Amino acid sequence: MNKIKINIVVNNKNYTAEIEPFARLLDVLRDDLGLTGTKEGCGVGECGACTVLLNGKKVNSCMVLAAQADGGEIITIEGLETPDGSLHPVQTAFIEAGAIQCGFCSPGMALSGYELLNRIPDPTEADIKMAISGNLCRCTGYKQIVDAIKLAGEKMREE
Ligand code: FES
Ligand code: FES
Repeated sequence: MNKIKINIVVNNKNYTAEIEPFARLLDVLRDDLGLTGTKEGCGVGECGACTVLLNGKKVNSCMVLAAQADGGEIITIEGLETPDGSLHPVQTAFIEAGAIQCGFCSPGMALSGYELLNRIPDPTEADIKMAISGNLCRCTGYKQIVDAIKLAGEKMREE
């Protein structure tokens, strides 16, 4: 099948990629662009490990064709770094709250927290639980993750 060309902006950089028409956004990010912070868990839209932001909205990148993202703006976990290379407050909050164990869910969880805090700077616990309801964690029991997102909100409001 003929490849197709797409233009996407990922973490504020422009990329042109020649892709198979049925390539998943997840694979283009990881394999073509080398952004391996985005993880593949279930591959069928159930675990949230592959969460990225597409035009400001959370998507499971295993369920989005890269062709559907043509012309779009994507933020991956690598895009949360500040320009000087230091970690974003959401990332430091995850470390400080002990919200990372094996770390496989962490990029998706952090992006869900980041997206929530952009919409609701001072979220309730219910808001946080709703925001991460599509992200599964096998390790932490979720409490530390909820605490981390609360802490991240405090850090971001102080900035
Ligand atoms: S890998 Fe995409 S939702 Fe699980
Ligand atoms: S820290 Fe291991 S799956 Fe969440």
